[in-house]
Amino acid sequence: PKALVLVGGYGTRLRPLTLTVPKPIIDFANRPMIVHQIEALKAAGVDEVVLAINYRPQVMMDFLKEWEEKLGVKIVCSQEPEPMGTAGPLALARDILYNDSNTPFFVLNSDVVCEYPMKQLLEQHLRTGAEGTILVTKVSDPSKYGVVVMDDRHKIERFVEKPQTFVGDKINAGIYCLSPSILNRIEPRPTSIEKEIFPAVATDGKLFAMPLEGYWMDVGQPKDYLTGLGLHLNSLRQRAPEQLADGPHIQGDAIIDPTAKIGKDCLIGPNVAIGKFCEIGDGVRLSNCVILNRVTIKNYARVADSIIGWSSKVGSWARIENKAVIGEDVFIKDEVYLNGAIVLPHKDIKESILEPGTII
Ligand code: GDD
Ligand code: MG
Repeated sequence: PKALVLVGGYGTRLRPLTLTVPKPIIDFANRPMIVHQIEALKAAGVDEVVLAINYRPQVMMDFLKEWEEKLGVKIVCSQEPEPMGTAGPLALARDILYNDSNTPFFVLNSDVVCEYPMKQLLEQHLRTGAEGTILVTKVSDPSKYGVVVMDDRHKIERFVEKPQTFVGDKINAGIYCLSPSILNRIEPRPTSIEKEIFPAVATDGKLFAMPLEGYWMDVGQPKDYLTGLGLHLNSLRQRAPEQLADGPHIQGDAIIDPTAKIGKDCLIGPNVAIGKFCEIGDGVRLSNCVILNRVTIKNYARVADSIIGWSSKVGSWARIENKAVIGEDVFIKDEVYLNGAIVLPHKDIKESILEPGTII
């Protein structure tokens, strides 16, 4: 089968990181988010992935050239002249997705992480003869998502995007298996699959749900990205513990790239990812944070609940905490304290910032 990933927009909620690269190629647990998805698609037999993009396609394609070979999957880019929403891109890629043999295809939002049970999704889709099958998960605050109401055989009776009043707590996880006939319902204009297409398919009794097992998170904003990392590392602990860091200086789950250098007497974890070529000094304390590639952290610095962007430098005894997000190539002077600061790329921070806010 083929697959389409909705790569979409500007990723404003993950700024300043998305000022450097598009959201799907930001590392999540030391691999680009979209690579996790493409690997799972490949494992389910997908041979071609269409990236539906409306922003900086070249950056994305250059980056994916490398992965196309590594992963052994054909990756093509479908660029939108204007943002086409979540359904319009399917109409634009009709030539690739449509086929007479009625082979279904996958569609994924690019910002969702889970264990991607694509094979099971395809199997259920074929078994029920549905036109669309969507993965669903349970959340405590359904109002920011698409909510589904289904019968006891998982047939969806209603699909309500971003409900204003309580409809239910089973939500659309943003991963679908669709039959080519659904393309006949979609016009090549900006349109929403959640608001215009799914409700119609549900009315025809052809939309089914598959409950997702294990963790799920939409990692489109910093807080959720860190929460999602914790869930993912916990799942690795069960499935592939050899990928996690190990040793007296590690507390809980952490993933550390083998090219990273770690000093003496550090305390790392729980929930930490350290990327390629990072240099961590002595006595550094890291918890619930992501250190992207090529970052230097000097002796006795502390980072908690925050993300440090590529190639940035954190001075000794500096303290960064409370959902701070530091952009690419930022310099943070020794002993500086940052409380929840959002720092744009290439800044020099010489003084402490006591209140959360954006540094322009
Ligand atoms: N190519 C393209 N063009 N992609 C787009 C466009 C567009 O115009 N607009 C949005 N996207 C992509 C986004 O990049 C993302 O990968 C996906 O479509 C969904 O858009 P979001 O903006 O992240 O939507 P959401 O998180 O509010 O809601 C969606 O995801 C929820 C699960 O996280 C919906 O599908 C909900 O029903 C769902 O519950
Ligand atoms: Mg989203």
